[in-house]
Amino acid sequence: MEPDIIFQPLNFRNLTVKNRIFRSNISGRFDNYDGSGTQTRINWEEKFARGGVGGIISSFVPVSIRGRIVPNYATIDRDERIPFWRKLGEKVHEYDCKFIMQLSHSGRQQDIAGIENLKRKPLSSTSKIESFHGFRPQAMTHAEIQETVQHFADGARRARQAGLDGVELHGANGYLITQFLSSGVNDRTDEYGGSLENRARFLLDVIRAIRREVGNDFHLQVKISAVDFNAAVIPWEKKGNTLEDTLQICRWVEEAGADAIHVSTGSLFPHPRNPIGGLPAEMIAQTYDSMISSGVFTFRNFLLMRYRLLRPIFRLLWNRQRGKVIEGVNLEDSRAIKKNVQIPVLCTGGFQTASFIRQAINTGACDGVSIARALVANNDLVNIFAQGKDRPEKPCTHCNKCLANVIENPLGCYEVSRYDGDYDAMIRQVMSVFIPSGFE
Ligand SMILES: Cc1cc2nc3c(=O)[nH]c(=O)nc-3n(C[C@H](O)[C@H](O)[C@H](O)COP(=O)(O)O)c2cc1C
Ligand code: SF4
Repeated sequence: MEPDIIFQPLNFRNLTVKNRIFRSNISGRFDNYDGSGTQTRINWEEKFARGGVGGIISSFVPVSIRGRIVPNYATIDRDERIPFWRKLGEKVHEYDCKFIMQLSHSGRQQDIAGIENLKRKPLSSTSKIESFHGFRPQAMTHAEIQETVQHFADGARRARQAGLDGVELHGANGYLITQFLSSGVNDRTDEYGGSLENRARFLLDVIRAIRREVGNDFHLQVKISAVDFNAAVIPWEKKGNTLEDTLQICRWVEEAGADAIHVSTGSLFPHPRNPIGGLPAEMIAQTYDSMISSGVFTFRNFLLMRYRLLRPIFRLLWNRQRGKVIEGVNLEDSRAIKKNVQIPVLCTGGFQTASFIRQAINTGACDGVSIARALVANNDLVNIFAQGKDRPEKPCTHCNKCLANVIENPLGCYEVSRYDGDYDAMIRQVMSVFIPSGFE
């Protein structure tokens, strides 16, 4: 019998992972306001390591306080953060699971700026108001660009000093790197804007700076949106980058020294195609109120979700370009990227079925997959696959209720039908992330 490709090790240039399934970047606001880490985050990551994933790719880890999306996410903005990340890495390693830190900067996409950022505008490639939430950024000066490039390099150095297994640059989903890459967002007229080569300069500067800082033998991957779909929600927006643009960017990324590509989609987060699935508008309205003061269109969005009679308008806008595919929504883009580069390619988006994942890898669409929500629903999904089952008994419905809650409530699976309608059982499961507290 052919060995199961899902359980074959994946060899990157500087890292070997025991199987082909990664926990994709996902976390709740589990840490302290100032960006110091907590036992809760360690508990969160341990759930997935125990459940059998080969590697965990962390959620958004800000390289500076100015670059965070919300408070209460652990940061890597100073050396004092290293001991926490070391402890987290050691816990995950107990399960022979690798840990890759996602180095991130929000740019203009700052959902809740936090008190330290309240008196300054978020940095971006542009000063244009973002068209969905209405975030108000300020175009970065050359000095700010250079400083931010160094923040990424320092973050990579700290991740290495913490004994982690690699870093990922968050170059997808509308955050700062996308804001430079995207023709729909970047309106600069200097050497960081205009042509594709100029728009890619910031990302390539970051990769080269990291290589200078940590050397050539530390794993570095880049998460990228294969297609921007920048006009998906607001029809009069520019379309943004195409797959052809991204194929060229990926070739440059490889030349600059990256070890892998992680394929995602969309120039905004969340985006109709990411995370693909349901739009629980009523539930989103219960938490989106925390963002009302963050942008000039946030109150409009809140009203469109809050009132039943207005919801069809919001649904119409949100679902216009969503498409019907859920499992493997980015797979054909990943296949095209894989044909264009020599380095391994990971793909995210809707994966939950062993036979589907096996086929995706066997037919050359990707070398491994990353999973977020299906692992939130079933932390032990990989162990379930190892037992020969194709799908879990109570699969993730991709309803996006976890996403709807994350801005205010602890992250977990909020689909009560998965708990046979038992609300208390659901809350017990969600709250299990706080145990142990670290003070026993
Ligand atoms: C609540 C939530 C938080 C997320 N946070 C991040 C993040 O910090 N960084 C990131 O790159 N992607 C983030 N994602 C996207 C996921 O990593 C993943 O790529 C996406 O959900 C598609 O995979 P899935 O269908 O397996 O969930 C998040 C998704 C959800 C639902
Ligand atoms: S709430 Fe649960 S079922 Fe719904 S998308 Fe999130 S993890 Fe999946």
